[in-house]
Amino acid sequence: MTNFPIAEFENQRTPFYFYDIELLRKTLDEIKRFSNYPGYHVHYAIKANVNPVILEEIRKAGLGVDCVSGGEVETALNAGFAANKIVFAGVGKSDWEIELGLAHDIECFNVESLPELEVIQEIAARMGKVARIALRVNPNIDAHTHHYITTGLAENKFGINLEKLDEIIDVAKMMPNVELQGLHFHIGSQITINDPFKLLSEKINELQAKYAEKGISFKTINVGGGLGIDYDNPNENPIPDFKGYFDTFKQNLKLSEGQEVHFELGRSVVGQCGSLITRVLYVKEGTEKKFAIVDAGFTELIRPALYQAHHNIENLTSDGDVEKYDVVGPICESSDCFAENEMLPKMRRGDIIAIRSAGAYGEIMASQYNCRRLPLSVYKK
Ligand code: LLP
Repeated sequence: MTNFPIAEFENQRTPFYFYDIELLRKTLDEIKRFSNYPGYHVHYAIKANVNPVILEEIRKAGLGVDCVSGGEVETALNAGFAANKIVFAGVGKSDWEIELGLAHDIECFNVESLPELEVIQEIAARMGKVARIALRVNPNIDAHTHHYITTGLAENKFGINLEKLDEIIDVAKMMPNVELQGLHFHIGSQITINDPFKLLSEKINELQAKYAEKGISFKTINVGGGLGIDYDNPNENPIPDFKGYFDTFKQNLKLSEGQEVHFELGRSVVGQCGSLITRVLYVKEGTEKKFAIVDAGFTELIRPALYQAHHNIENLTSDGDVEKYDVVGPICESSDCFAENEMLPKMRRGDIIAIRSAGAYGEIMASQYNCRRLPLSVYKK
């Protein structure tokens, strides 16, 4: 559980992100411990958070990186990750991004369509390179998560639909500057039950059996990311159930001799180690509601406004009687609301508030809308 160094916070300009690096280390230890099966490799989905202190811990722990843009590939390289541990996914890779990946000989491009495959072949030929690729397959599995973050259904823009896969494999195998080494899957994010991962494993088994009959095998299977965190109980469950997650694959995913499995975890690695710290500016009595107006807004943490996500909120400096508040930010939009009807100890101007479980898709999604300053970060090492 995170203990906040409140005395230190008093003199800090708010809002800022607070990262509990000790918790991040423990989380990484568990990931290593429970993924310790032959051929298992964990990549960090760097889109979740690129804070340099966090990246340094993740790099030291030996994880690879999953990127979805040229900017992320550059960020990973600058943070010292080895190019041969970088995979690059995304439905819309620009030419310069493909060139960047090839110039650095990254581990693998996860290819999402036939036109993309053709462009990779063309650029690799021009550069005298061979691009290692995996085909991202859309397995049509419902991850039972928010519709903005489900990605594995046939109607989503991601991946290659199953009925097109045979044809694209044939094309890829004929290409001189492309080496088809694997299949890639990612069914969605914030998945809190293991059933979808079991279904995914079974779907992959079916596909592998089908291709084995045709004499086609794959060196790597990338099962994507998606393991969720407990947003409602960050103190009780600061570390996700990595044992249950990796064991689901261990028990259900059939691998051939020497085959490797890649994982691309984002939220579950960094989600619980970060909190957004903000101050109460004003408490305003509405006709029916009481508003706690804080100095952070959706410019610092957009998840509640964008996905109706609920983050636990704690008043770190009040132990007054509990009252009902809408906790809102200063941005000139009604969606700038962190929580409605939240029961919190009496809020007063100057109180310090922690918005929990904000380590993933928090700081990295910050914007400067309303010409606001980007948030700072503070660490507990
Ligand atoms: N691999 C691929 C191909 C992905 O698209 C993603 C996330 C991941 C891995 C990592 O997924 P994770 O382990 O973090 O679930 N901004 C949203 C989440 C968007 C996720 C996008 N893709 C949020 O704040 O909930």
